[in-house]
Amino acid sequence: MNVLEHMPAPENEPAPGTCVRLERPEAGLVLLRLDPPHRKLAVFDRPLMRDFALALDELERARDVRAVVVTGKSPTSFVAGADIDAISGLADVELATALARFGQGLFERVARLPWPKVAAVGGPVPGGAFELSLACDAIVLAELKSTRIGLPETRLGILPGWGGCQRLPRRVGVPTALAAILTGKLYTPREALKLGLVDRLCAPENLLRIASDIALGRSANPRRERGAKSWLVDRNPLALAVIGNAARKNLHKQTKGRYPAPSRALELVLAAPGTPPERGLANEASALGELAVGPVCKSLVALFQGSEAAKKLAKLPDGSDVRTVARAGVIGGGVMGGAIAGLFAERVGSVRLCDLSRDALDAAQAAHLARVEKARKKRILEPHEARAAADRLETSTVIAGLARADLVLEAVAEKLEVKRAVFAQAAAQARPDTILATNTSSLSVTAIAQGLPHPERVVGMHFFNPVHAMPLVEIVRGRDTAPEVVAATAKLALALGKTPVVVADVAGFLVNRVLGPYLDEAVRLFQLGIAPERIERAALDFGLPMGPLELLDEVGIDIAAHAATSLHAAYGERMRSSPLAGELAAAGIKGKKSGAGFFTYTTDPKTGRARKGALNPAVAARAGTNAPTLADDMLRDRLALALVAEAARCLEEGVVASEAELDLATVFGMGFPPFEGGALRYVRSRGPAQVVERLATLGDLPDVRARDGARERFEACELLRGLSRSTSKRPS
Ligand code: NAI
Repeated sequence: MNVLEHMPAPENEPAPGTCVRLERPEAGLVLLRLDPPHRKLAVFDRPLMRDFALALDELERARDVRAVVVTGKSPTSFVAGADIDAISGLADVELATALARFGQGLFERVARLPWPKVAAVGGPVPGGAFELSLACDAIVLAELKSTRIGLPETRLGILPGWGGCQRLPRRVGVPTALAAILTGKLYTPREALKLGLVDRLCAPENLLRIASDIALGRSANPRRERGAKSWLVDRNPLALAVIGNAARKNLHKQTKGRYPAPSRALELVLAAPGTPPERGLANEASALGELAVGPVCKSLVALFQGSEAAKKLAKLPDGSDVRTVARAGVIGGGVMGGAIAGLFAERVGSVRLCDLSRDALDAAQAAHLARVEKARKKRILEPHEARAAADRLETSTVIAGLARADLVLEAVAEKLEVKRAVFAQAAAQARPDTILATNTSSLSVTAIAQGLPHPERVVGMHFFNPVHAMPLVEIVRGRDTAPEVVAATAKLALALGKTPVVVADVAGFLVNRVLGPYLDEAVRLFQLGIAPERIERAALDFGLPMGPLELLDEVGIDIAAHAATSLHAAYGERMRSSPLAGELAAAGIKGKKSGAGFFTYTTDPKTGRARKGALNPAVAARAGTNAPTLADDMLRDRLALALVAEAARCLEEGVVASEAELDLATVFGMGFPPFEGGALRYVRSRGPAQVVERLATLGDLPDVRARDGARERFEACELLRGLSRSTSKRPS
């Protein structure tokens, strides 16, 4: 089969022979340069694979060759790995396997060239780009801030299928290869050198010279032989069995068997030392073929594509650029504001943090310095960068010094008058076009903007707690918000390392709105008398990272009760929540921060962190005693479909613009299982008709029927019903 014919053709497919060049910078040396004209950053797409094969034909016939250096457009740019769009379209196992074999064949031809081959690479070197490098005799890596090298395939639900599962263990030994492939980590140059993934680091301007000297034998090959210990491990079936068992156990703990790719990769890597290379490659290709057409791969690839597409939000719809926020003011230095200001100082520029409380400012400053110091110790930041990041955060107990800010973000108390007042103060000092961003989680952005000069510059920038860990930021478009302001705020979110999703200014925005009915269902089930362990287990088994009752404790039961009240006010009966949360909060049972919520918490003396304990007896006393029988799958659906039904309503009402953005927000904002790909993708893979039917069953449960408005919660919206009709027409 000619696999290339089955790969998608990129726009402006260049003519054959234009993507890879053979250059002869000096006698005996060939530079094999991958430099496709149709992409800023090369990927192994159809034309590059085609031209790589043509270049190898020519190289294999070439005379007067003594050495080969494989390189990219420049020392800062090699190849960004496989063509993700091609993977997303693969539906046929045989074709996917054949594609893996084709890539393997190309890299085998490189490995078999009868001269020394050196890879001279830099910038991002992930996946296929690293696998090509591994086919060379030595790898020289340009030491740059942007350089990252590794095999991240398992993160996309596939595995390194162009020889990576064979060549990496041979190069660095089984344990290191397992760690690299199972985590999919992308390593910094220094980490890569230390682990033996590469052989030599150098400044980018010296990359080609050093690689050429090694290839031509003018410098010794720096490749270190692996230590005797590593050989002993790989050659010793008993040691491998021990390593394998530990790795399997650990992997299962992390993936609960939901992600097939790391398990397949694990077995291939463990088997690599004892398998003839050709057989190893064949096994690798067929594993890749099966994984690439599977649902988990499709979900993970769609999420990847969704987060890539989110980058477009940083431009106007016509593709034009918007201003860059380089200097900021943050008002309110508590849990959220303090962390946001620190992140800004770390990643973007100077920031002035204002809070009435000196204690809050000191705490924010101390937390920032501690983070920066940690990054310096881990060598993520050079000493001078760490110093600069530390210095970029200044604090003030008055709202002052905002004249030069490009954006002022407020994270003060969740009260409309307070937020309006601080924005009025900021507006009086700042430029008329300074963006005013609010981190409100439940107030209307439009209402906050009212009465301010230039309300078109007011926007929501809703971060999630903990700020450093949560990948999503909701960019809330108020009634008056200018498109340019939305794009500039999205651009800032990206610069802060977050994924933006633009949402409408509705109560709860997207994420909290969708979480509302889910969390309330958990409380209702608890009140019915369903054991809390069962409730938590149902959510965990569904693939959520935490049970809903524990999540309530994390968020704060008081905060959740407050949010529930505004959701009820905005959406009516389907969002009416149990009074229990409000009652607990009034009794001082507010969750982790108050020492007890649904569960009790103790402080770990070693780490100082709160550790979850048993069910809180004070709360247990409020559980029902006459629980109805509810099968596990019904319990799961009652939680999951409450969430999914509300997510579908959000899409129907245009709270987000697309299904892909909804899916991204549910995974990144609330931990919807990544292997499901998001709330709407889950509906599609489970079958919309089945989802609609199950919602009807849930709405008919006696306790749901008895509850005012609860049936509405489980009513399928028109969008779901439409999906159900159109998909049931399709032949199965
Ligand atoms: P917090 O109570 O930890 O911090 C608020 C800070 O604002 C305090 O340090 C207080 O001294 C300061 N402050 C109050 N009035 C002020 C004024 N007039 N001028 C200057 N400083 C003033 O609150 P947190 O949790 O950081 O929340 C802040 C905002 O972020 C709220 O709007 C909240 O809804 C929102 N939010 C909170 C999340 C969370 O999980 N905590 C998540 C997402 C949004």
